[in-house]
Amino acid sequence: MMATPQHEITVVPGVGEPGRDELRQACYDVRIDVFVHEQGFSLDEEIDDLDSAATHILLRLTPSLKPVGTIRCTKHEGYYKLSRLAVLKDHRRYRFGRALVLALHNHVQLDAKRSEQYDTVTIKCHSQIPVKGFYAKFGYSPEGEEFDEDGAPHQLMVARLALSD
Ligand SMILES: CC(C)(COP(=O)(O)OP(=O)(O)OC[C@H]1O[C@@H](n2cnc3c(N)ncnc32)[C@H](O)[C@@H]1OP(=O)(O)O)[C@@H](O)C(=O)NCCC(=O)NCCS
Repeated sequence: MMATPQHEITVVPGVGEPGRDELRQACYDVRIDVFVHEQGFSLDEEIDDLDSAATHILLRLTPSLKPVGTIRCTKHEGYYKLSRLAVLKDHRRYRFGRALVLALHNHVQLDAKRSEQYDTVTIKCHSQIPVKGFYAKFGYSPEGEEFDEDGAPHQLMVARLALSD
């Protein structure tokens, strides 16, 4: 494993806050590079109806501020959802994917502590089959059968995080 390059992680400002559009666009740019150009998903499906209200997280190299990674968090009835995790191809295996998942977990724990009365919080994700092992490293377990999403096989993976300190 090579040394992880200097970077910073930014939670994109929420709906109505200054700076959201520009930073969210940087997240979209990474996603389009990875999911549309590298993996061949359609641009129409890439930006979806969850994006407007989602929490977007952006990873940029420092000091250049080049965007290289992103992840998205949405809140649903009884659970949170992790989606659109992407790191640019030339920047993989530097632990940026890990840093983004942990940043999302941190965001979920802070949000859930404010609003939930439970001791644990559930995070779901629809994993592509080749990256199931990646999510397993962060406590996600497969549930149910594989299914098709946007033309590719996926597996529901679920993690439960403790909310106590
Ligand atoms: C999946 C992805 C985000 C991982 O990013 P990354 O920065 O290369 O991952 P990291 O370097 O943080 O890896 C963290 C750990 O997961 C492991 N890992 C990375 N990719 C993996 C894979 N495809 N399968 C299994 N384990 C993997 C690493 O070896 C590392 O393990 P370690 O901590 O024991 O050393 C990146 O490969 C990517 O963007 N892929 C294309 C988009 C994609 O498939 N997104 C997921 C859609 S569901």
